[in-house]
Amino acid sequence: MRFGILTSGGDAPGLNAVIRSIVRLGDTKGHQFVGFKNGWEGLVENNTMPILRKDVKGIASLGGTILGTSRTNPFDHGGPERVAEVLDSHELDGLIAIGGEGTLAAAQRLVDAGIKIVGVPKTVDNDLSATDYTFGFDTAVQIATESMDRLRSTGEAHGRCMVAEVMGRNVGWIALHSGMAAGAHVILIPENPMSMDEVCDYVMQAHERGRAPLVCVAEGYILEGERDPYSERGLDAFGRPRLGGISLVIADEIEKRTGIETRFAIFGHIQRGGTPTSYDRVLATRFGLNAVEAAIDGDWGTMVALRGTDILRVPLSDALGELKTVPAERYAEAAKLFG
Ligand code: F6P
Repeated sequence: MRFGILTSGGDAPGLNAVIRSIVRLGDTKGHQFVGFKNGWEGLVENNTMPILRKDVKGIASLGGTILGTSRTNPFDHGGPERVAEVLDSHELDGLIAIGGEGTLAAAQRLVDAGIKIVGVPKTVDNDLSATDYTFGFDTAVQIATESMDRLRSTGEAHGRCMVAEVMGRNVGWIALHSGMAAGAHVILIPENPMSMDEVCDYVMQAHERGRAPLVCVAEGYILEGERDPYSERGLDAFGRPRLGGISLVIADEIEKRTGIETRFAIFGHIQRGGTPTSYDRVLATRFGLNAVEAAIDGDWGTMVALRGTDILRVPLSDALGELKTVPAERYAEAAKLFG
């Protein structure tokens, strides 16, 4: 059989490990692959690259994606008719689409129109409810934790408060995990708005114990009295506000209210770059192995998902419902050590 592969949406460390395991196992079983460059864009523009076993040699440890990615929506560029035309021109039996909610939503609509697709979930934010974890999340948490460890030492040297801003558009998983790992004195997540008075109380408690207060905030955090996350940089390709900068606002407010000299750092795309952790490589590899088996079985309209320690096939639509937010009890647990 012959399958197309594409990676779409924001990149996540582990994408190359997924591609490698799909091609390695598929090749061993006698199947062939065509890579579409830059996500759905490459598919609708028929922009392909060969993807043989030799092309995936040693790529599991590489960040990014050898196929490239974009946030193109295939429904803005010919939809199912164009997708079917291109897949047919390469005599493909189906497509394996690796991406986040936007990608999987497009995949579901294409499946409804008769296109044969298996999905692989991807997001560093870990906000897809269909799967316990997505690859890339562990790497982002590791990088954010290491970065906060560094902020702490300079903060301690100067007796400053440090505000670290991590990724997390709608959910606070990266903030919760990295903030807990780094021992942040308060963690601010979109799911749990907190008053600046309360934030400053925690900062003062740490300061009064002689510590340099460390605040960890998710970029999508919504300030007290606001309806939307802080955004000053317009909209992205999906019409979503481009985030980044909430840590500056919070740092200024802390300094003004407490008199403690405060600095901020936005970790940004550093969290998505570079080599994936071994956890992410293993999860990505297992997703790839299971996805290519689903494609070989003709189990179209499904995606792979981690449940506990097992990889299951679930309907693509499972990825599209509610976001997987941080449960109140998980946040309350972390809050036991705030201050
Ligand atoms: O969805 C993953 C994510 O990294 C978010 O945390 C962040 O808001 C967004 O992507 C950034 O998108 P871009 O790479 O388009 O700037």
